Amino acid sequence: MDTVASQRHLLSAKDLSLSQILEILDTARELGRITDGPMKKLPTLRGQTVVNLFFEDSTRTRLSFESAAKRLSADVINFSAKGSSVSKGEGLKDTAQTLEAMGADLIVIRHSAAGAAQRLAESGWVSSSIVNAGDGTHEHPTQALLDAYTIRTHFPECENSFSGLHIGIVGDILHSRVARSNVLLLVTLGAKVTLIAPPTLMPVGVESWPVDISYDLDDALTSLDAIMMLRIQSERMSELFFPSEREYARDYGLGNLRLNLLKEKAIIMHPGPMNRGMEISAASADNRKSAILEQVRNGILVRMSVLYLLLGGNPIPVEGVLV
Ligand code: CP
Repeated sequence: MDTVASQRHLLSAKDLSLSQILEILDTARELGRITDGPMKKLPTLRGQTVVNLFFEDSTRTRLSFESAAKRLSADVINFSAKGSSVSKGEGLKDTAQTLEAMGADLIVIRHSAAGAAQRLAESGWVSSSIVNAGDGTHEHPTQALLDAYTIRTHFPECENSFSGLHIGIVGDILHSRVARSNVLLLVTLGAKVTLIAPPTLMPVGVESWPVDISYDLDDALTSLDAIMMLRIQSERMSELFFPSEREYARDYGLGNLRLNLLKEKAIIMHPGPMNRGMEISAASADNRKSAILEQVRNGILVRMSVLYLLLGGNPIPVEGVLV
């Protein structure tokens, strides 16, 4: 069956069919509708344990998975590599097996190595469901899902297909797992996607991706319905990819002049954390077109939906019946 429940794990946006994406987005909306009412917390995952296994830093993803699990009444164990026995040499297998022995039903993993989530899912080390919360420069599927959810709320006419929408993804595509997952998801949804970056920040082989490519932000700007600005990931850069921060901001930043050229209904997105003044000006980040904090709020609903569907939660209670 083509449902999310038929999968044990969420490792990559490429594993999701159109109907599974819509199932996650629709379920997120329903969960939001219910928890916006008097019932803030649902009992659907009572007795289940979600482990946040984070080997890399995170604010939004870790906190929103924690919030999502708690809103569904799951127990949550948070693991951060900093301050753990990883510093004594403990590896992924022993760490994951230790956490499963503490009762994990689902492990949300963030790791600096591309493929870490898949390794954990396919190794046989643990029997828990695995959700990829970002593996190196490879993928971040729940970020792409919350981005799609956010776009859908602004373009309700595109509820079941993003055909007709033009989405620009701008900046450090080379190091961006958010860009990779978004390309896969947005193309499945039918959107036209344009990647915009200096040649040095485009991945090798990008010509074979199902997207348009541009090296000139001003060329694409006025036709975009959503513009996703990406963070310059200095921590993953071992060489110089552009002459100076000032030149990068001038050529590829969403500054105040470009802000005025966006379509009236266009939205500004950023997965966070932001480098204000670099890829995005403060005026753009705080502009009425900015959906950046909506993305954060929607992240909780989308992650509730993913946890709920993968863990086979009890039926969503009718509002007011279960308190
Ligand atoms: N967007 C995102 O993954 O943010 P964090 O690194 O704060 O989790």
